Amino acid sequence: MTQKTVTIVGQGYVGLPLAQAAARAGWTVHGLDVTESLVAQLNEGRSHVDDLSDTDIQEMLELGYRATTDPTVIASSAVTVICVPTPLGDGGSPDLGAVKGASRTIADHLVAGSTVILESTTYPGTTDDVVKPILELGSGLKAGEDFNLVYSPERVDPGSKKFGIKNTPKLMGGMNDASTQAAVAFYGDFVDEPVPMNGLREAETAKLLENTFRHVNIALVNEMTKFCHEMNIDIWEVIRGAATKPFGFMKFTPGPGVGGHCIPIDPNYLSYEVRNQLGYPFRFVELAQEINNSMPRYVVDRVGGLLNDHRKPLNGSEVLLLGVTYKADIADQRESPAEPVAEALRERGAIVRFHDPLVSTWNLGSGAVEREEDLDAAVKAADTVVLLQAHELYDLESIAQNAKVMLDTRGAAPAPAVRL
Ligand SMILES: NC(=O)c1ccc[n+]([C@@H]2O[C@H](COP(=O)([O-])OP(=O)(O)OC[C@H]3O[C@@H](n4cnc5c(N)ncnc54)[C@H](O)[C@@H]3O)[C@@H](O)[C@H]2O)c1
Repeated sequence: MTQKTVTIVGQGYVGLPLAQAAARAGWTVHGLDVTESLVAQLNEGRSHVDDLSDTDIQEMLELGYRATTDPTVIASSAVTVICVPTPLGDGGSPDLGAVKGASRTIADHLVAGSTVILESTTYPGTTDDVVKPILELGSGLKAGEDFNLVYSPERVDPGSKKFGIKNTPKLMGGMNDASTQAAVAFYGDFVDEPVPMNGLREAETAKLLENTFRHVNIALVNEMTKFCHEMNIDIWEVIRGAATKPFGFMKFTPGPGVGGHCIPIDPNYLSYEVRNQLGYPFRFVELAQEINNSMPRYVVDRVGGLLNDHRKPLNGSEVLLLGVTYKADIADQRESPAEPVAEALRERGAIVRFHDPLVSTWNLGSGAVEREEDLDAAVKAADTVVLLQAHELYDLESIAQNAKVMLDTRGAAPAPAVRL
């Protein structure tokens, strides 16, 4: 084992920025992944995530970073961090296949005195009940005695120009004091504020509280959006007013639904475990899901209403969707609500096209959606334009002026665009 050597398992949206931060702080970084094509691409200096450019990867390579599929690098690492996906499986239950797979790989090469850290978002108890036994069984070593074991959730805010790994406080809960301190020593090399926590489960649950908080508050404004529209109250003005309160209020805005890898998925991990262990529902999560999942259809209803005002049916109308990623100014399409919006429009007979400067092809279950290259011409030609993501590149004033009818689901465009 070599000091200041780390293996980061999973080189995706979370693992790759972590690899960059550690490499810049003087660590020798092995980026272990199971996807051979990705490993080859990284070693050629090409990035696949929004937050890192090709130049960033080339800088990492110069600093000694290497991507690899060879797990023997774990044996020479003082720290091994797990950053693999935690999606939902059949019936919405947690799928820990990648976490278990990564843990088995680590177990085969684990050496005494090293530290294993889980960063993947997961339900409380995973590190203790799932990862620890796999590591101990495969390695013959004892957690807390022969090696350190820690949970430290990732808090990356994709596309953010304000917050990165360095200036985002990082939680780290070890199975004992020595584990927590080992994590503080590692992350303290490149994170301004390591936050030690008492316990694995507390750190796991803190991450889920953060994401559930966001999920629930988005649902709250989404539900208010619906009834404010019925009552002829401008929800955007309501939120602008409320947000001037300097304490006790945090601003959330409505939208076409929730997307990305975290908000639509992570709270399920918590509600699943509450039901699994205790037999009762986590009602806030279930309600938030119901409301947020209803938003794509609500958007389509509003499009139908706007067309109706212009004596047109949705059936046969040309609808242009602007911005189909899950978040503005990033290319990530995972769980994007644009997909259920487009599917529901098609179900009702609309002819759907899209424009997105960050997306070159867009395939849905019902078939590929035609991409518009000439934004101005497409805006003028469509019967309705629906703004789903207000990418910075969009000149919203000109789009609002040129569209026959425009529904703005982000409250970003000026009149005559109609806000959600
Ligand atoms: N993306 C985000 O913004 C974000 C934010 C906070 C937390 N998270 C959490 O971080 C975790 C990772 O998410 P991500 O977005 O980086 O995923 P990702 O899909 O971008 O990357 C995961 C990588 O892990 C690799 N992988 C899968 N199984 C492996 C194995 N057994 N061994 C080695 N590599 C393996 C995949 O090939 C892939 O390259 C998830 O639990 C997610 O919930 C993500």
